[in-house]
Amino acid sequence: MPLFQFLLVVVLVLNSLENGSAGITSTYIRTEWPSTDIPLDNQVFEIPKGHNAPQQVHITQGDYDGKAVIISWVTADEPCCSNVKYGLLDNKYEFSAQGIVTNYTFSGYKSGYIHHCLVDGLEYDTKYYYKIGEGDSSREFWFQTPPKIDPDAPYTFGIIGDLGQTYNSLSTLEHYMQSGGQTVLFVGDLSYADRYQHNDVGIRWDSWGRFVEPSAAYQPWIWSAGNHEIEYMPEMGEVLPFKSYLHRFPTPHTASRSTNPLWYAVRRASAHIIVLSSYSSYAKYTPQWRWLREELTRVDRDKTPWLIVLMHAPIYNSNLAHYMEGESMRTVFESWFVRFKVDLIFAGHVHAYERSYRISNIYYNVSSGDQYPVPDKSAPVYITVGDGGNQEGLAGRFWDPQPEYSAFREASYGHSTLEIKNRTHAFYHWNRNDDGKNVPTDSVIFNNQYWGSNPHRRRHLKAGGHAGS
Ligand SMILES: *[C@@H]1O[C@H](CO)[C@@H](O)[C@H](O)[C@H]1NC(C)=O
Ligand SMILES: *[C@@H]1O[C@H](CO)[C@@H](O)[C@H](O)[C@H]1NC(C)=O
Ligand SMILES: *[C@@H]1O[C@H](CO)[C@@H](O)[C@H](O)[C@H]1NC(C)=O
Ligand SMILES: [Fe+2]
Repeated sequence: MPLFQFLLVVVLVLNSLENGSAGITSTYIRTEWPSTDIPLDNQVFEIPKGHNAPQQVHITQGDYDGKAVIISWVTADEPCCSNVKYGLLDNKYEFSAQGIVTNYTFSGYKSGYIHHCLVDGLEYDTKYYYKIGEGDSSREFWFQTPPKIDPDAPYTFGIIGDLGQTYNSLSTLEHYMQSGGQTVLFVGDLSYADRYQHNDVGIRWDSWGRFVEPSAAYQPWIWSAGNHEIEYMPEMGEVLPFKSYLHRFPTPHTASRSTNPLWYAVRRASAHIIVLSSYSSYAKYTPQWRWLREELTRVDRDKTPWLIVLMHAPIYNSNLAHYMEGESMRTVFESWFVRFKVDLIFAGHVHAYERSYRISNIYYNVSSGDQYPVPDKSAPVYITVGDGGNQEGLAGRFWDPQPEYSAFREASYGHSTLEIKNRTHAFYHWNRNDDGKNVPTDSVIFNNQYWGSNPHRRRHLKAGGHAGS
């Protein structure tokens, strides 16, 4: 072919790699279970047998660096007992920790006794067995602590959002449990219990706690809150936002100097994970804004190269559903995300899957400036995983044409996995429920935003005095 034509082809191919012109709108037609909640008498919600038997067992990271867990569970009959026995051997529990018990009411519903127990001072990279409950009703579980904080510590996170408790939710959970994920980054909207009335709201929180136990009792789920956690229901006399969520799902917020459990950070293996609240104030000078400003300065990419942010309402998403609901947070935080070279921002809320290119829109102001998102190598990739499978169904309509910032989008149920390999590389997959576990549908290899693709590059930059630009 003539040289000119050859060059043109090369330029077009390079172009499509560099910016958003090659975005994919997947037309995959998914088979769908009905979007209705699984009936309460189904075995996925089975109540464990025995007087006061612990149920709804779930764990979350309990400190900043992964040497503690918070173990939570509910007992129906008595407030006794909030202690955890634990140790390195099955059936032989050398240690014990004492927790606390709480309870609450919600429009006629009275919760069971909700126990939270901090188990700290753990060794890294160690399997612990634990036992809760008394006598014949006691139950045993285990978890594995993460490797110690290290820039090259490999670790696999699962990312799940908007889960609910339908047959699609069950499919997502089962697929996730086969994925090899070691910790879940949960991007909000847990039970969808707020779709119910009065007594049934609390009952559906309880059923959801039992539903996720097969995963959440054995590995931490890092929680963030969505709009379905707000439960501002004045018509039922309930006006205290996040009442059920805050009673049931504690977070280690004080370890990251946060004053509110709805926003906090944890470090795990080679990742620094920042959890934001889309439904708390974040305007300039508010507590969340001030906390994030401080927390970003505490990120040490030499120790935790992977900087990940979780929130519920996506900042970049081209679905018709909830379009631009993340815009107010974008105007406040996007320039920080770019300046601090955040690697990935995961969100939920929109019931479909979408991944962006690295783009930013930080040059616009009300007087002038570039008003469209532009390719930006320092910007995060934005990923929406609101496709857990709740009873509201899929958000199947996207803006057409696909915006240039959108790399891949599809309205199917599923979850993602992020396999961090070392300081430079992470393998990312979105897994559609309808495929077998080995058929990742959208796969990308991410180079770290701080180290790039070269584990020595940063040091050279530093030696040359150009680091942190
Ligand atoms: C919590 O449990 C105690 C002890 O059973 C009970 O007296 C109290 O009324 C309960 N509180 C709420 C808010 O349900
Ligand atoms: C607004 O944006 C333009 C173009 O980026 C820039 O030159 C100008 O200084 C900005 N104005 C303010 C007040 O930030
Ligand atoms: C990091 O992981 C990638 C992907 O497995 C590999 O190609 C690369 O050689 C690794 N780098 C180092 C320094 O081990
Ligand atoms: Fe939502």
